[in-house]
Amino acid sequence: MYSEKVMDHFANPRNVGEIENADGVGEVGNPQCGDIMRMSLRIQNGVIEDVKFRTFGCGAAIATSSIATEMIKGKSIEDALKLTNKAVVEALDGLPPVKVHCSVLAEQAVKAAISDYYRRQGVDPEPIVGKLEEDCHACGCGV
Ligand code: FES
Repeated sequence: MYSEKVMDHFANPRNVGEIENADGVGEVGNPQCGDIMRMSLRIQNGVIEDVKFRTFGCGAAIATSSIATEMIKGKSIEDALKLTNKAVVEALDGLPPVKVHCSVLAEQAVKAAISDYYRRQGVDPEPIVGKLEEDCHACGCGV
């Protein structure tokens, strides 16, 4: 059912924890299942120097948040904002269809943390990050 990569990131999640005095923190929840993902960022000169996450949720949510942190670490904010849940799923060699909505949480957590970073700078994040989709139905997975 799950790819080896999913199992690996579930069993050995990368970048778990919380950055002290983070430059941006985002917490998102999936209203369908009640799972929660929290991401904290250290940003310097527009680059994500460090990222950590905590996920209270299913195995797929843990695996997607883990790989998402790897995919944005060392990247510019601009590049991190291009991270889609589709790219996260592809990087994990796929997810079962009923679990695709879990990857949406990872994309949203990154965007929420970057939005928080902008807010702390006194910048309105919405024109840059876009509206955060709170409703999981947006991903179209039908869950
Ligand atoms: Fe809730 Fe996966 S079942 S995020």
